[in-house]
Amino acid sequence: MNQAADGVPSAPGKGIAVSMTGIFKSFGGVQALDDVSLEIEQGEVHALLGGNGAGKSTILKVLNGIHRPDAGTIKVAGKLLTAHTPEESRAAGIAMNFQEMSLIPTLTVAQNVFLTREIKGGRV
Ligand SMILES: Nc1ncnc2c1ncn2[C@@H]1O[C@H](COP(=O)(O)OP(=O)(O)O)[C@@H](O)[C@H]1O
Ligand SMILES: [Mg+2]
Repeated sequence: MNQAADGVPSAPGKGIAVSMTGIFKSFGGVQALDDVSLEIEQGEVHALLGGNGAGKSTILKVLNGIHRPDAGTIKVAGKLLTAHTPEESRAAGIAMNFQEMSLIPTLTVAQNVFLTREIKGGRV
């Protein structure tokens, strides 16, 4: 692991996993996302904080291909997403656990993330 001079581990620095730039999304008259940019490096864990209606779910649904942004660019591991479909995001490696009523409580977080895409055999 890289160590800064003060002994504190430095940022993962393995490259940009997710880059969202200038994202806009409105629902009718509601501007849910207004020029939102988000960059996540590989190995990083982030928390999005904000009040109800701040747009947290919307930005993640845009990343997941559920919502098509009105404007902006999304790259996953350097690859530009253009279709804005769940299939495209899934193929790029994006998975989403939803807040409400979409998890199977008897499964682990990892099992929920890989639901329907379980490794079924062979060598890994
Ligand atoms: N499918 C939708 N149709 C209409 N308005 C929506 C929809 N999804 C979100 N919104 C609106 O967009 C704004 C952001 O919502 P949301 O992303 O769910 O916020 P958060 O997750 O931060 O609570 C809110 O004003 C919400 O009412
Ligand atoms: Mg939400």
